[in-house]
Amino acid sequence: ALSDADVQSAQSAWAMLYANMEENGTSVLIRMFTKHPETKSYFGHFKGMGSAVEMEESAQVRSHGKKVFSALNEMIQCLDNTNIFTEMINSLGKKHATQLKIDPKNFRVICDIILQLIDEKCDGDGRVAFEKVTNMLCTQLNSAYK
Ligand code: HEM
Repeated sequence: ALSDADVQSAQSAWAMLYANMEENGTSVLIRMFTKHPETKSYFGHFKGMGSAVEMEESAQVRSHGKKVFSALNEMIQCLDNTNIFTEMINSLGKKHATQLKIDPKNFRVICDIILQLIDEKCDGDGRVAFEKVTNMLCTQLNSAYK
């Protein structure tokens, strides 16, 4: 579980990424698609999925990056309320499990990329706390598949 101090430092680390949510959201997706090309198969209907430069300019990739970051932001604002936090993740997990049929191992993949960005853009402080948040997120998303 998270202490009050964890919640604080995870939220302030996240705030630094969210301040530039379109750039950072897009960058997370591009890194995932580039390093783990099999994840592109879920986005076959997106245009401009060729090179990283193309993806950077794809309106669909950019808009999806913003969607993912907005959803994360809502959850992270609720970190101090475990019930609401869990409920938000559950409904997102259900959608990814049943409708989108995403292999749940990809949640760890995307979370590790977000942590990478935290390392690059934030002072070391929030890292440990944010890692705990990603662990909770992944555990809860995975439980939607059971
Ligand atoms: C859709 C968030 C991880 C694939 C979405 C949507 C949100 C979202 C908010 C829009 C849902 C809606 O329209 O109602 C997240 C978050 C993730 C995550 C917060 C983890 C941090 C993943 C991963 C994959 C994935 C790992 C696949 C590798 C998709 C796909 C869609 C989608 C294919 C539908 C896109 C479209 O057709 O517009 N996700 N997602 N998601 N997600 Fe995720």
